Amino acid sequence: VEEEEDFVPKKKKDFNIIGLDEDSSDSDDEEEEEEVEEKIVEEVTKDQVVQEIKKDPSPIKEPKKVTKQKVVTLTKYVHVERDPEIQAARLKLPILAEEQVIMETINENEIIIVAGETGSGKTTQIPQFLYEAGYAEKKMIGVTEPRRVAATSMSKRVGKEMSLSEKEVSYLIRFDGNCTDKTKIKFMTDGVLLKEIENDFLLKKYSVIILDEAHERSSYTDILVGLLSRIVPLRNKQKMPMKLIVMSATLRVEDFTSNSKLFKVPPPVINVESRQFPVTSHFQKTTPKNYVQEAYKKSLKIHNKLPEGGILIFLTGQKEVKYLVNKLRKAYPCNKDINTQKTASHLKTKKKQEVDSDDEFDVKKALNHMKRAKKKFASEISLPKINLDNYQLPTDDTMADLLEHNLEDDELSENYDTENEDDDDNEEVPMNKQPLWVLPLYSLLSTEKQNRIFEPVPEGSRLCIVSTNVAETSLTIPNIKYVIDCGKQKTRLYDKITGVSSYVVTFTSKASADQRAGRAGRTSAGHCYRLYSSAVYSNEFEDFSKPDIQKKPVDDLILQMKCMGIDRVVNFPFPSPPDADQLIMAEKRLQALGALEETENNVGKVTKLGKAISAFPVAPRFGKMLALSHQHDLLQYTVALVSALSVPEVLMESKDSDNKWQQTRNKWASDGNFLALGDAMILLRAVGAAEYAGSQNKLEEFCNLNGVRIKGVTEIRKLRVQLTNEINLNIPQANLCVDPQMKPPTELQSKLLRQILLSGMGDKVAHRISQDELTTKEEKRKMKYAYNVLDLQEHVILHSASVLRKKLPEWIIYQEAYEIDNDGNKKIFIRGITEIEPEWLLTYCPKLCNVKQIREEPMPRYDEKDGKIYSYVEGTFGRAAWDLPL
Ligand code: CDP
Ligand code: MG
Repeated sequence: VEEEEDFVPKKKKDFNIIGLDEDSSDSDDEEEEEEVEEKIVEEVTKDQVVQEIKKDPSPIKEPKKVTKQKVVTLTKYVHVERDPEIQAARLKLPILAEEQVIMETINENEIIIVAGETGSGKTTQIPQFLYEAGYAEKKMIGVTEPRRVAATSMSKRVGKEMSLSEKEVSYLIRFDGNCTDKTKIKFMTDGVLLKEIENDFLLKKYSVIILDEAHERSSYTDILVGLLSRIVPLRNKQKMPMKLIVMSATLRVEDFTSNSKLFKVPPPVINVESRQFPVTSHFQKTTPKNYVQEAYKKSLKIHNKLPEGGILIFLTGQKEVKYLVNKLRKAYPCNKDINTQKTASHLKTKKKQEVDSDDEFDVKKALNHMKRAKKKFASEISLPKINLDNYQLPTDDTMADLLEHNLEDDELSENYDTENEDDDDNEEVPMNKQPLWVLPLYSLLSTEKQNRIFEPVPEGSRLCIVSTNVAETSLTIPNIKYVIDCGKQKTRLYDKITGVSSYVVTFTSKASADQRAGRAGRTSAGHCYRLYSSAVYSNEFEDFSKPDIQKKPVDDLILQMKCMGIDRVVNFPFPSPPDADQLIMAEKRLQALGALEETENNVGKVTKLGKAISAFPVAPRFGKMLALSHQHDLLQYTVALVSALSVPEVLMESKDSDNKWQQTRNKWASDGNFLALGDAMILLRAVGAAEYAGSQNKLEEFCNLNGVRIKGVTEIRKLRVQLTNEINLNIPQANLCVDPQMKPPTELQSKLLRQILLSGMGDKVAHRISQDELTTKEEKRKMKYAYNVLDLQEHVILHSASVLRKKLPEWIIYQEAYEIDNDGNKKIFIRGITEIEPEWLLTYCPKLCNVKQIREEPMPRYDEKDGKIYSYVEGTFGRAAWDLPL
């Protein structure tokens, strides 16, 4: 151990080796090290950076051939005692035939790729091969999964297969885990490992890392591949041997192998062949909208008419799954007893629990976690601060489940609940006396209940599993003969401007559809019933879904990487890089927010504020607003504001001449202690008031009267509840109320809210064009509403719908700028205006201000030539009544 410590390079150096050219990576003498050091300080211009990214990849070298004939007797160091039944089942797995090849290849190479059909045994067997070969003797075998379900259930399964306890084969996911210092094999979500790298760059606890389900292309796994492509050689150079195994379904392995930036020499690929029985796919003639209902009908048809064999139904989310499970169980009351009996043992200790409800243990755990944290912090009188220790970004599908969990049933059921169920044809009526053993499967289901899918089916009944896409590749369910595929999945979409995400149901990809169909052919020939037409499949389905990293805005990812010390993000070896300009712009925006240190060449390090911002699961712009909201009870309002700003067109524009709505808004803007100096605050006020309207009818009335889009209000409510829950889970001390009803803000709070808005929108400051210098009447008329904005040559016009059109404050921020082309007469308008005080600029957007000593000027000044705001030196104004949290 002591010896190893000597080789550990200093942390800073570790980090910066990422992304550097590896021309000089073959020896580790002193000179080399110095050269590396020098390169770090070397300045990279924007052009060079872009050049670096655009450079053609160097010719790919041939990967080493994997020879299957070579027989080498492996020395097994560690004996594993297995149950004979389990051993027999193992021996049937295709991967067992490849054990020698795999182990030999991994012994001879630092990095290998294993590709194989789902169910071939990659996840359960390869960790065991490694264990037996001694890889867990001194350090751990680490396995990452993009999904929590896989991490927990696979650790249980592997432990069972090896007759080891959960102390030795353990898992770690957000808010849950059973790792000990005896842990030999550790299953975890990819986000967990990424977090570990932040603290231990060389992953010294591990002898081997397996990145499972790499084909899913989750952003975390992608970043891990990039990081480990550098960490592993570094570890081996440091004489602390380490191996990397990238495992994937047989999809697009080229993204990993033909990327010379990632792996100079492509790692050897081992393809695990597997027996896959033919699956016949059946398309529908039409694509019904109500796929849940359609899935119900189809499953009854199968159960009534087709021979033995399990049914697996793919739907998009937890609520849909629960709905269909209950419906199917109701259709077969005869088997309700079986279901009840079976679960009764789990319920003995749990009071008042409904037999058919599948408890979400995660949420409970999170709540307990919150309670504990609250107790701990109750003794501290100071306002809640942001605690980053427990924060890990959740995986997308967990988040989707988690958020859905908090929504009202009716909000989600509108997609699939039909009123005219009675009209359905007779085929729906259950005719089969054979019980149907119906089980749900989704990410947030407790592990115990997840594992029921692997348990034997009660005698005489047919297995039917209703699942989200977790059953697509992560979990292999035995004995499935029929697959019903709704063809849809829940996708997280991001608003380009605000970065706020929402979940939408979209068609899956052809690759996913084929994966789903493949689940039917594991044990014998099977059938896949696709609840969509072949035309939709060929025309609407993409071949593959894009990697996450190319779908999302990268601001938050960059921030996270910077939090890890990866300062040269442009040079980072992404398996599929995000767009270069996007990277540069994102970095600029982050600098303006104060999340990154300001540098010319986009290698700025993360600031303390940046770390705080990254704790919030929203775009950094909004993260900053939330990070500053920890005082004066402001967080609830900021959450509401962030949500409201994310929903388009909430306040409608009236076409009447008297424009009553506008009048109301103008009145709101000027009255009471609700200091509504601007459109954002009017929006907040309208949304806040709508929540007090009462019944749905009253809400409609309120909306009609005040020109508020009712759908906008419900969308905002959803977002608020989601965000509140996320914050409560991630930052338990925040302890936010989930109830959308809240008191109007006080005058002080309103003022502070405008400052908070400014803090996140510093790039959207506008300054009114001085009217004094205008001479002609025509000019005065034309320029009355004209403002200068940053980064734009021309002036912009304050939109007539703004409540500030009458006041025309000198300094404002705007939410959106957009161009209108009126017969070649182009004009840029700005909307969503909030009045600000110029002296706030220094405090909230210091990066915008060029703090020069211009004592003779009374106010900060916008310089049209260089587009910067000039202000007093620090100290002249002092800090605003508002303290930064850091
Ligand atoms: O990772 P890959 O998709 O290649 O396969 P796996 O997850 O290792 O599964 C190998 C086999 O183990 C499958 O046939 C599963 O049905 C079975 N298995 C099981 O019976 N019980 C579990 N809890 C997990 C897997
Ligand atoms: Mg697997």
